[in-house]
Amino acid sequence: MTVTTHEPTTAGRFGEFGGRYVPESLIPACLALEAAFREAWADPAFRSELDHYRTTYAGRPTPVTAARNLSAELGITLLLKREDLTHTGSHKINNVLGQALLASRMGKTRLIAETGAGQHGVATATAAALFGLRATVFMGERDIERQQLNVFRMHMLGAEVVPVTSGSRTLKDATSEAMRHWVSAVEDAHFCLGSVAGPHPYPWMVRELQRVIGDEAREQCPDPDVVVACVGGGSNAAGTFAGYLDTRARLVGVEAAGGAAMSSGSPGVVHGSRSMVLQDSHGQIAEAESIAAGLDYPGVGPEHAHLGTSGRAEYRTVTDAEVVRAVRHLAEREGIICALESAHAVAWVLREAGTPVLPTGSTVLLTLSGRGDKDMSQLMEGLR
Ligand SMILES: Cc1ncc(COP(=O)(O)O)c(C=O)c1O
Repeated sequence: MTVTTHEPTTAGRFGEFGGRYVPESLIPACLALEAAFREAWADPAFRSELDHYRTTYAGRPTPVTAARNLSAELGITLLLKREDLTHTGSHKINNVLGQALLASRMGKTRLIAETGAGQHGVATATAAALFGLRATVFMGERDIERQQLNVFRMHMLGAEVVPVTSGSRTLKDATSEAMRHWVSAVEDAHFCLGSVAGPHPYPWMVRELQRVIGDEAREQCPDPDVVVACVGGGSNAAGTFAGYLDTRARLVGVEAAGGAAMSSGSPGVVHGSRSMVLQDSHGQIAEAESIAAGLDYPGVGPEHAHLGTSGRAEYRTVTDAEVVRAVRHLAEREGIICALESAHAVAWVLREAGTPVLPTGSTVLLTLSGRGDKDMSQLMEGLR
């Protein structure tokens, strides 16, 4: 295992954030998962099996593409880390292949997952099919409406998709429902959480599984001035940042203005960990609102809360309108249609390039977390 100074404590804390705030009945499952992951992660056979699937199934390593036209237009060097080119179309596959292998190693027969944009649900359904596991995916009704392509893909892959009708009917509610279901199914089911959120060991484990993005990027682009990625729960950003924590690079996470836990939230507990959370004056979780279902979440992973409050990373926001413009601009200039989530990072670069925030001449490594196929019908409606 790669040991960095950014390891959580044994209680799963990154500074004052993280921990394990779950019902008593889930503590043994969290402890067993942590022990199993530690053991697997230190086992060369597990690592090499995961590497095998990453290369022969998921299509890694992903390239870094120089965005030549945008670079010329913006006066910077813009390099795109292409997670959109992976099998299933987003970085979510990196995490899920690892967790599905681990679940099989633990003797589990089912995967439970939550999904917002559907990419994590599709990745989970895919890995379940590959490894002969059953998959149950919880998804908010509102997200089912706006991400129908991914719902259909999950059905094709043999997964059960459970609509969640509570609350805002989005990712927050799907996550709550998946956790509730896990309590009742913990014997044979592994909760395959899709981001660096949730109780320990998830934020650490998911980051370790996603650090392949940052480790590859570091080899492909060793010395950028700025590393930027979108942040929902924050898994693609955490995986990317992990490759650059010990460099001089500025780390920038970009949130949706309507779901900006880092920029507008305060410390609180959500889905089993203490982090930065959008909440009202009574400490109730507030509703997030973003055009990108995957960023429509009122919390952020605890490592981001720590990186932000300690000053190692910065967190910025962009609006839905900037995001829609960014999808089009990237498509027209570079021939790449990215996901609405990923377009948050692009929008920040488009807005700030040439200003003191992102000076002319900078080299920027930007993680394109996924491709935009799932968003086409939503964009068609919006642009009609
Ligand atoms: C393409 C894409 N990017 C980013 C995200 C946000 O997740 P995270 O912040 O964990 O990377 C999602 C979530 O669904 C996604 O589908």
